[in-house]
Amino acid sequence: MTDLTPFADLTVAVLLGGQSSEREVSFRSGDGVLGALGRLGLTAVGIDPGADLVAQLRDAGAGVVLSVLHGGCGENGAVQGLLDHAGIPYAGSGVLASALAMHKIQTKRILRAIGLPTPEWLTAGPGDDLGLVAAEAVETLGLPVVVKPVDEGSSVGVLIVDEAADVEAALAESVAKYREAFVDRFILGRELTVGVLGYGDGLHALPVLELVPKTRFYDYEAKYTKGLTDLLCPADIGDDATARVQAMAIEVHKAIGCHGVSRVDMHLDGDGQVWVHEINSIPGMTETSDVPAEATAAGMTYDDLVAEILASALPRMRAAGHGPLPPM
Ligand SMILES: Nc1ncnc2c1ncn2[C@@H]1O[C@H](COP(=O)(O)OP(=O)(O)O)[C@@H](O)[C@H]1O
Ligand SMILES: [Mg+2]
Repeated sequence: MTDLTPFADLTVAVLLGGQSSEREVSFRSGDGVLGALGRLGLTAVGIDPGADLVAQLRDAGAGVVLSVLHGGCGENGAVQGLLDHAGIPYAGSGVLASALAMHKIQTKRILRAIGLPTPEWLTAGPGDDLGLVAAEAVETLGLPVVVKPVDEGSSVGVLIVDEAADVEAALAESVAKYREAFVDRFILGRELTVGVLGYGDGLHALPVLELVPKTRFYDYEAKYTKGLTDLLCPADIGDDATARVQAMAIEVHKAIGCHGVSRVDMHLDGDGQVWVHEINSIPGMTETSDVPAEATAAGMTYDDLVAEILASALPRMRAAGHGPLPPM
């Protein structure tokens, strides 16, 4: 059990909502986390960040922040930078790891540089000849291909394209909507995701979760519609694959520099090869989300999980002198 004594006299501000496409999911994550903090005997308040978040936190008497802002400025390091600048300690990943994790191409470049397997890709932005990118993608990656925005979440904007003739239009749509996009080699296999908790020597992977969507892939609908995806945890992939997938999740978490919590999304193909798609620095925390389901399989309650994530704020609290914020 995580020792929460250092948090006993503090108000924990849970950041929820935000301005990204994942605003609604974030409210659901926030509801879950606020409930847990209450059951853990802590004082907690939910805050939907406006333009002057620091003033909102001071008004609330916040001593520490736990953010479940998915996507956008909440997950890309911007909010973390604001909190660093204001000297407000928070749980979870810092600026650099958040920014890298949010940007799927930068994540993939790091994975490739250190020899971790991620599907081959081609980038596409506003200045590019998308016809040329599409032709090269079909030639080098084969069909189908996956077209994705670089920094969305919840499968928003992810397109699987079967026909060569449709790739350019998919890229044009993605670039028009999201500016930066990429084409990924399509991986046929089992969809796995693994949460990583802790920091420093205490890093540990949760049991592997297999997602079996009834839709073609794990799209937004499959993620958030009850009954559209079966969650199997621990995944029935054997001890060897389980160990490899968990070790890889920890390696990815370390390579990106995440702290406290992350979730690594992967595929296991028919040859037993693991492919890493992305790492999420603020994974979903709704009562039915992946990481809570993995925690349950590990024998942790939802409240234990929230307590362990919150405790990742301790190094920053020590650095900040560990107390409530001084008044303005
Ligand atoms: N290269 C790929 N091959 C097969 N499926 C993919 C590929 N990339 C993404 N997907 C599918 O799209 C989903 C969302 O992609 P992901 O990279 O995890 O982005 P996010 O979850 O941030 O939207 C994945 O869970 C998977 O189902
Ligand atoms: Mg994902």
